[in-house]
Amino acid sequence: MARIVITEFMDERAVAALAAAHDVHYDATLVDDAPRLLKEAATADALVVRNRTQVRGALLAALVRCRVVGRLGVGLDNIDLAACQARGVAVIPATGANARSVAEYVIAAALLLRRGAYGSSAAVAAGRWPRTALSEGREVGGCTLGLIGFGGIGQLTASLARGIGMQAVAFDAQMRADHPAYAEQGVRCVGLDELLAVSDVVSLHVPLVDSTRNLFDATRIAALKPGAVLINTARGGIVDEVALAAALRSGRLGGAAIDVFGSEPLAAAPHFEDCPNLLLTPHIAGLSAESNERVGTLIAQRVLEALSR
Ligand SMILES: NC(=O)c1ccc[n+]([C@@H]2O[C@H](COP(=O)([O-])OP(=O)(O)OC[C@H]3O[C@@H](n4cnc5c(N)ncnc54)[C@H](O)[C@@H]3O)[C@@H](O)[C@H]2O)c1
Repeated sequence: MARIVITEFMDERAVAALAAAHDVHYDATLVDDAPRLLKEAATADALVVRNRTQVRGALLAALVRCRVVGRLGVGLDNIDLAACQARGVAVIPATGANARSVAEYVIAAALLLRRGAYGSSAAVAAGRWPRTALSEGREVGGCTLGLIGFGGIGQLTASLARGIGMQAVAFDAQMRADHPAYAEQGVRCVGLDELLAVSDVVSLHVPLVDSTRNLFDATRIAALKPGAVLINTARGGIVDEVALAAALRSGRLGGAAIDVFGSEPLAAAPHFEDCPNLLLTPHIAGLSAESNERVGTLIAQRVLEALSR
């Protein structure tokens, strides 16, 4: 029987599947208590984390018995992959399991931000009837969605976008232009500059790595089409938050949805105050009842397989 330490929220059914075969220590608050985390890590044969547990440095050094790290999500920027590989620790992401949840978030944000008509409850209830002010919202039909990163989530987002009459273009630094996924989704492969120039909605689906850090700096934000909407569900650190806020305030950018931040949880962020047409969410694009179950089930299954080898 192996010892499995789970440091962040995991679907209860998936925890039960692990506990049926192994000794499981599940404590979703462990991530915020470094001394306890290091103590539990010392006896772990497997570690299960989300995005907040930093599997590097002191934690990695404490994981003397660990053979496998299960990641309840897909971004691996909180894990020192090279060090894990050097120590023979397998790292297992939940590839694909939360893609639909993120793709639906992107489509909903695009519809909401372009139309701009859903924030009127208080005014309508108070009898103000702001019909004229809200009558010039924009549709998404016929407009262009620019996808930066055309992996699992980018491709699924393109497929949903086509269903509501958008056309999509994509830039992916690591996919060949003749990759069959472009034709399968009816997406035109373009360079980054062209994507910025033609897209009405731009959505980011790249990992946070050196080449994507600060990719959306003030210059790239200024290169977006006037009135464009920017959606970031990828990772904080890719978009310059201060430059984005300035572009919204100046009216140059039509709207933005930001789910991920340079520092999480986001502390008070005065630069975002009073920004028009801005949606801020606490890193939940990939979280839904369905995706939590899919992600947990997949990781439980793959950790069990890894421990049985
Ligand atoms: N907000 C959330 O809740 C949430 C949930 C899931 C995933 N994510 C983020 O979304 C990202 C994408 O997820 P995915 O499942 O589609 O990953 P993926 O690995 O399937 O796709 C990522 C794509 O980005 C491309 N890429 C890498 N570097 C690039 C660059 N410099 N420029 C352009 N393209 C580049 C890769 O070639 C790949 O096709 C993840 O890395 C993660 O950070 C966030």
